[in-house]
Amino acid sequence: MSRARAATRTLAVAAALVLPLTACGQDSGGGGGRDADAEGGTVGIAMPTKSSERWIADGDNMVAQFEEAGYETDLQYGEDRVENQISQIENMIARGHDLLVIAAIDGSSLSNVLQQAADADIPVIAYDRLLMNSENVDCYATFDNSKVGELQAQYIVDALGLEENQDDSFNIELFAGSPDDNNTRYFFEGAMSVLDPYLESGQLTVQSGQTELSEVTTERWDGGTAQNRMDDLLTAHYRGEPVDAVLSPYDGISIGVLSALKSVGYGSGDTPFPVVTGQDAELASVKSIVTGEQTQTVYKDTRELARLAVAMGESLLAGEEPEVNDTESYDNGVKVVPAYLLDPVSIDAENYELLIEEGYYTEAQITG
Ligand code: GAL
Repeated sequence: MSRARAATRTLAVAAALVLPLTACGQDSGGGGGRDADAEGGTVGIAMPTKSSERWIADGDNMVAQFEEAGYETDLQYGEDRVENQISQIENMIARGHDLLVIAAIDGSSLSNVLQQAADADIPVIAYDRLLMNSENVDCYATFDNSKVGELQAQYIVDALGLEENQDDSFNIELFAGSPDDNNTRYFFEGAMSVLDPYLESGQLTVQSGQTELSEVTTERWDGGTAQNRMDDLLTAHYRGEPVDAVLSPYDGISIGVLSALKSVGYGSGDTPFPVVTGQDAELASVKSIVTGEQTQTVYKDTRELARLAVAMGESLLAGEEPEVNDTESYDNGVKVVPAYLLDPVSIDAENYELLIEEGYYTEAQITG
């Protein structure tokens, strides 16, 4: 990692040295621009929301890294409103930006605006979330989304000791992400590929009976929505039974689920919290893991994802094919989008120090 960083820095220094000779970039007039004379052109970065700290980190990391590489940036957040994101991207196109990096709010809602980008010859990178139903997506920078779900589910299997103790049986409830995010299906199917055998054998039971993806999604990944659903599940199905595990696909949902659990006494007296998974290693969840509430999360280093987007962007702007490692998994309905999948890492109370070692958080942030 540090070698890659040093390389980026060297590039940036080189870029700074040649800047006076090659300055030909455009002034975006948008937010986040450092230098109207950036020689690499302007990158429009469309992120979904600031309500989750991971997207703030993604945006900040991309601004820093694209600028280090000599580009100007225009970072916009749609605040989970599809129409905001569409008009932000339309503005980026109208301003003549050279590259678009988009983490969609609703992956299927951008086909028209992506056509406008293609008409203006602006390459497009789908960032973390796949852009659906459009041929106008050049590549996809993401993590191995199926593996995220597998890690969450395998964590539950191991924590409950399902393999070792085949006579033991437990209750589990399932949560999935937003139905308009293509990742949701990958996370859920990855998880269910691990959990299905235990549901079939009866070692795991979903007391609510809600096991279909359409029954367990959480609109806009909203923690409050998840909390309400968990409240309802506890009232309807767990008056005389404990919840032993909750498959949660995302830290914001996990925090909502934990609030519902606490409100009926879990985590106090002799009612322990169930195993609760998560994703993104958001600070509130890492703290919650350290204090014994949430059990697990999946760490996806947003600095690495930003680095990948920058590398893909540089290739596209140079007229080259970006490096990818997956040309099969991500069919957006019109084409299979070439993707580079980074590796997600499971984090719990045993190994959270990795986040400190890697400089993702300081010790004081986590324990303070
Ligand atoms: C997904 C993303 C997850 C999580 C979630 C909610 O698309 O892959 O890591 O951030 O959105 O923001």
